[in-house]
Amino acid sequence: MLLKTVLLLGHVAQVLMLDNGLLQTPPMGWLAWERFRCNINCDEDPKNCISERLFMEMADRMAQDGWRDMGYTYLNIDDCWIGGRDASGCLMPDPKRFPHGIPFLADYVHSLGLKLGIYADMGNFTCMGYPGTTLDKVVQDAQTFAEWKVDMLKLDGCFSTPEERAQGYPKMAAALNATGRPIAFSCSWPAYEGGLPPRARLGEEGSRSSSGLFLTSASQSAGIYKHEPPHLAICPPPYRRLLFLMENKKLMLRWKLLIGNFGLSLEQSRAQMALWTVLAAPLLMSTDLRTISAQNMDILQNPLMIKINQDPLGIQGRRIHKEKSLIEVYMRPLSNKASALVFFSRRTDMPYRYHSSLGQLNFTGSVIYEAQDVYSGDIISGLRDETNFTVIINPSGVVMWYLYPIKNLEMSQQ
Ligand code: GLA
Repeated sequence: MLLKTVLLLGHVAQVLMLDNGLLQTPPMGWLAWERFRCNINCDEDPKNCISERLFMEMADRMAQDGWRDMGYTYLNIDDCWIGGRDASGCLMPDPKRFPHGIPFLADYVHSLGLKLGIYADMGNFTCMGYPGTTLDKVVQDAQTFAEWKVDMLKLDGCFSTPEERAQGYPKMAAALNATGRPIAFSCSWPAYEGGLPPRARLGEEGSRSSSGLFLTSASQSAGIYKHEPPHLAICPPPYRRLLFLMENKKLMLRWKLLIGNFGLSLEQSRAQMALWTVLAAPLLMSTDLRTISAQNMDILQNPLMIKINQDPLGIQGRRIHKEKSLIEVYMRPLSNKASALVFFSRRTDMPYRYHSSLGQLNFTGSVIYEAQDVYSGDIISGLRDETNFTVIINPSGVVMWYLYPIKNLEMSQQ
């Protein structure tokens, strides 16, 4: 068992050490799965089925509606695109739904200043039963994706044994690297070894108002709320950043942003965005950008939020405080001595008046801070560690602060 663990860690280190400059900050973009699932019925539902038309229309929206310019650049195909393998064993897209092939789509996406992500599965089949990437196909598939000019690969792990995954994921990392094309590797391996993040809910209210599919998705995605990230903080420094990326790759599998779909209230949507950002999780939307509301766009395109998510220090935040009153506080250290604070309420009754001070949240020293409320834009000035303050947090909602020492005010506000 110990030997197995050591071997596994060895492989993990090997995967992680391929530091080629990609994914220095959490990736941002769009992926099909949460919103469009495996809808392959193009006869009845041509606008929404998994097809080149869907991806081209999303690419247009990303380029024209400000998404790309805010940093949302990856456009990711998920499951159900594969049509089979050709005579030489190369993957082929479904010819009816992707009549011009993936290189055509990649060119189109690149011409708009975006990047294309694709999906494969380390195993006999993808999770929806399409042809998988068995160990003997890993190198060939990596080469195919590179020839197609793909920029990210999500490698799922359905229909494989732990031994196949332990060989296959490092093999794919090496094979992608050997192609010479920078391809970000969204590695689902940890999710299959460690089990799913513990289930939690976005609050009773959310569970009651959500239904079916989206209740399930929201519950899975909300695993974050019970999941304690601090183990990352005790990793030795050289590895911390790499583990942070690894963790985020795991998160990417489960933790798509559900904002703009059918299950989340306004408060829950704001909470999801704030928590994903404080935990340095990827911002991968999965919603219909052709019909998204202005309110949801505001959440996803909040400039200060995105600046915090993409902070160059790349440190993942953690929960620093938890109250019996169902209030939690998360903190992420940022560059320029700034930090992000998220006050999150799991309550479902009414807005809660939470009293605290920076001192109670372990900020020390004689520094005077100022905070900017990330959603309202309000400035709270003159905060010393002993200053009492009150934040009013809506049920299933958050208050989020960008906190900076006043002496760095000019730098922080750039
Ligand atoms: C798994 C993954 C999802 C999605 C589906 C596709 O369930 O967790 O993100 O990729 O497979 O079938």
